[in-house]
Amino acid sequence: MKSYKDEIKGLEERGLKRRLTTLDPDLSHGDRLLKTEEGRTLIDFSSNDYLGLKGDPRVVAAMKGAAECFGVGSGASRSITGSTSQHAGLEEEIATFKGAQGALLFNSGYQANTGSIPALLSRSDEIFMDRLSHASLIDGALLSRASLSRFAHCDMDDLERLLKSSTASRKLIITEGLFSMDGTVAPIEEIVQLAGRYDAYIYLDDSHGTGVLGPTGRGRLEGLGLKAERAHIIEMGTFGKAFGTYGAFIAGPKEIIDLLVNRARAFIFSTSLPAPLISATRAALRVIIDEPERIDKLRENSTYLRKKLKNVMSGSAIELLGEEDSPIAPLVVGDNSPAMDLSKRLISLGFYIQAIRPPTVPDGTARLRITLSSAHRREELDSLIEILEGMIDETK
Ligand SMILES: Cc1ncc(COP(=O)(O)O)c(C=O)c1O
Repeated sequence: MKSYKDEIKGLEERGLKRRLTTLDPDLSHGDRLLKTEEGRTLIDFSSNDYLGLKGDPRVVAAMKGAAECFGVGSGASRSITGSTSQHAGLEEEIATFKGAQGALLFNSGYQANTGSIPALLSRSDEIFMDRLSHASLIDGALLSRASLSRFAHCDMDDLERLLKSSTASRKLIITEGLFSMDGTVAPIEEIVQLAGRYDAYIYLDDSHGTGVLGPTGRGRLEGLGLKAERAHIIEMGTFGKAFGTYGAFIAGPKEIIDLLVNRARAFIFSTSLPAPLISATRAALRVIIDEPERIDKLRENSTYLRKKLKNVMSGSAIELLGEEDSPIAPLVVGDNSPAMDLSKRLISLGFYIQAIRPPTVPDGTARLRITLSSAHRREELDSLIEILEGMIDETK
């Protein structure tokens, strides 16, 4: 029989073996520090807690309070006894936040994508997916059994070429709002136009855009004034990133929400999210709505760091990707080992920046993925830039 040990050895030889690092948050001085097992404190430049909410006292208090009333576990799936007033309350609030007719909670973003896409499509349908889409979108597409066509990243000519030649009875364009590993923003206005022209639905995974993009963090669609078009847009988001909690949602037309309640297996056949967690998410949502200055600060931090990084990287072989104000600042190194080495050195100096390797990113594009938070302080950004400058100079 083929041995699993050999498989692991193969991963090791290709520099692809993943190891888990134990890191506890250190919430004593704000929401951006990590403690290692040896007791070292690191500045977290890798998590997606963009607004510094995971340890916010209001979010923590909401969870504690709800645990006293609701208990911890939810006891059953949503369609049995797992739909509490907390679930209904958050669904209503998220629909309002997103300007959608309705919303439905899922236990995670991974489950939302692998549950919803197969519920929406079948064999005779076709998916048009941006080539750099997240693994959960690819898995959802494969589970649906619809045919899958992938277009070059954010390339609208390529998307149109594929749409034009399709004879599928139902078409679904899948894209992320803010791309998780690249920091690029989807050209959603053009995607909406193409969807209208070729009679397609849009599935927008705004996991990283929600709480981050748009003047008040409503995400990639905020401020675009889309009205009639919304009848064909299905939006997905997670609470595990800017909300600082856990869980996910689909927001969209009422009939889509009804369909998912009836057809999405990941929704139907899984114990529902615990009510205390939902209460924490509702508290985080209130903070996002009431304190838009967090989003402004995130943008200010992102623009500042990226501008400096651009200067530091000029003339080096390392490429900085992404939009000017994106809180995701990937530095593409190329091969796995040098990316891992840079990451190790940064960690040894107190900056937790992980190297991202294939299969999470395409072969030959291993990168340091720096993520920013509104909780980062200016002097922390400056020290990171100084350290990176030294490292990059060595490679020039
Ligand atoms: C674009 C995208 N979609 C979906 C997910 C999955 O979300 P969750 O972490 O809630 O499962 C992630 C997070 O890893 C993501 O980056």
